[in-house]
Amino acid sequence: MNQSANPVVERVDARHRYEISVDGARAGMTEYRDRGSQRIFFHTEVDEAYAGQGLAGELVQQALTDTRAAGLRVVPVCAYVTRFVKRHPEFADLADPVTADVLSWLERELG
Ligand SMILES: CC(C)(COP(=O)(O)OP(=O)(O)OC[C@H]1O[C@@H](n2cnc3c(N)ncnc32)[C@H](O)[C@@H]1OP(=O)(O)O)[C@@H](O)C(=O)NCCC(=O)NCCS
Repeated sequence: MNQSANPVVERVDARHRYEISVDGARAGMTEYRDRGSQRIFFHTEVDEAYAGQGLAGELVQQALTDTRAAGLRVVPVCAYVTRFVKRHPEFADLADPVTADVLSWLERELG
């Protein structure tokens, strides 16, 4: 049986990211920074060993759902999250545009 059918997603506030684990091993993450009422997602990564199993999709789905529950908006800077929002219209109302303002703030924030 394929155990990777049971991934677990958790928000790790101290690292500003959501992590996805499979059988207790970390398989990927999506990183964010909060700017007021916006949660800006700027990088998503799944380890090569776990690629193509839909883990990034599961991770981003849960991250966006958690962001909505927190009453925050999503700004999809990362290409994967951008594509995910386009393909999942149920999240369209949650997304704010990526503006020059957001990008320069993010650049300063990330140093
Ligand atoms: C992008 C990435 C997170 C996808 O992880 P994954 O768990 O294999 O993804 P899933 O199985 O959920 O989805 C695969 C889909 O993602 C798409 N995809 C792959 N790389 C992508 C990228 N850079 N941007 C947008 N979509 C991408 C694939 O085309 C595939 O599409 P399909 O479902 O239509 O076939 C992973 O390949 C990765 O870590 N890449 C390196 C870092 C990166 O480029 N991150 C994205 C920009 S921040």
